[in-house]
Amino acid sequence: MEPLVQRIDILRRTFDEACRGIADIKVLQDLRNKFLSRKRGYLAQLLEELKSLPVSERPEAGGRINVLKDYIQSRLDEAERTLAATTTASPRIDLSLPGRTRLWGAPHPLMLVTQEIEAIFLSMGFAIEEGPEIETDYYNFEALNFPPHHPARDDWDTLYTTDNLLLRTHTSPVQIRVMERRKPPIRIICPGRVFRHETPDATHLPMFYQVEGLVVDEGITFANLKGTLEYFLKTFFGEKVKIRFRPSFFPFTEPSAEVDIECLVCGGGDAQCRVCGGTGWKEILGAGMVDPQVFKNVNIDPERYAGWAFGLGVERVAMISHQLPEIKSFYENDLRFIRQFMIK
Ligand code: DAH
Repeated sequence: MEPLVQRIDILRRTFDEACRGIADIKVLQDLRNKFLSRKRGYLAQLLEELKSLPVSERPEAGGRINVLKDYIQSRLDEAERTLAATTTASPRIDLSLPGRTRLWGAPHPLMLVTQEIEAIFLSMGFAIEEGPEIETDYYNFEALNFPPHHPARDDWDTLYTTDNLLLRTHTSPVQIRVMERRKPPIRIICPGRVFRHETPDATHLPMFYQVEGLVVDEGITFANLKGTLEYFLKTFFGEKVKIRFRPSFFPFTEPSAEVDIECLVCGGGDAQCRVCGGTGWKEILGAGMVDPQVFKNVNIDPERYAGWAFGLGVERVAMISHQLPEIKSFYENDLRFIRQFMIK
């Protein structure tokens, strides 16, 4: 048995020596195989040699081999744990890899245009108001002088959630909410999202933005409406821009007008222009003198007060101002598009 005991000691020293060189998991794996592999490992060989010992000596020798086996196993396990801990704690850094790109966002062009519009009206003493996007039939239609079944409702392709609740089709209901709360003089604008059951095309989407405006005071006239809107449009689009007022109809204003701006996309020169349809003009807002019936609905005396209002399409203004032929570019969330508008 003596030679076998010696071999066991030698093997233990050899193993201890080899352990110092464990630099990575591969070396560790090799060691495990070399010593513990069931078929060809050093320990398997020793166990094989047991057979050559007299039966009486086998238990003791076998016991010694097992002690060594447990020892090797536990040291290797420990080495593996240490290795795992240090690799996660200090990952290797490959300085030759390209850096991670950060995708910076940017203010959305529709936000920027809305802010520009707000700034012009704020400078004229207007205040900003907001209202809910889900409205009752009363605020969206009835209080604005659309009786139930009135054909004018057909111009607004309404998305109803229940019989009485709908996604507002315009920002005009905010006029009613504000006039219910406040007494004149009133000078407000109301930016916000509106919804219509529309088939998308180059200039229409089922959701878009409007800015509503309302002025109520004693002695307000149509000249006041025209002057204020002209001042706004010239400040926004530049002094030279061509503007046209066309007579129109809205149930909540009398008289009513629609305001067009020359098509800055084609300049009137493209019969196929996707923005103006070849007319050279693009409608960007509706406006008019507040109908006396609307004042009565909110308990404002139409004999004493007069007012005017407008509702403007933000996407249209943005498309004309940035000469964009497709409304959908605003909603594709392409950062390359959105970032172009940061500096004007
Ligand atoms: N609410 C109208 C629309 O969405 C636009 C409008 C027209 C608003 C005339 C007004 C107005 O305040 O006076 O088409």
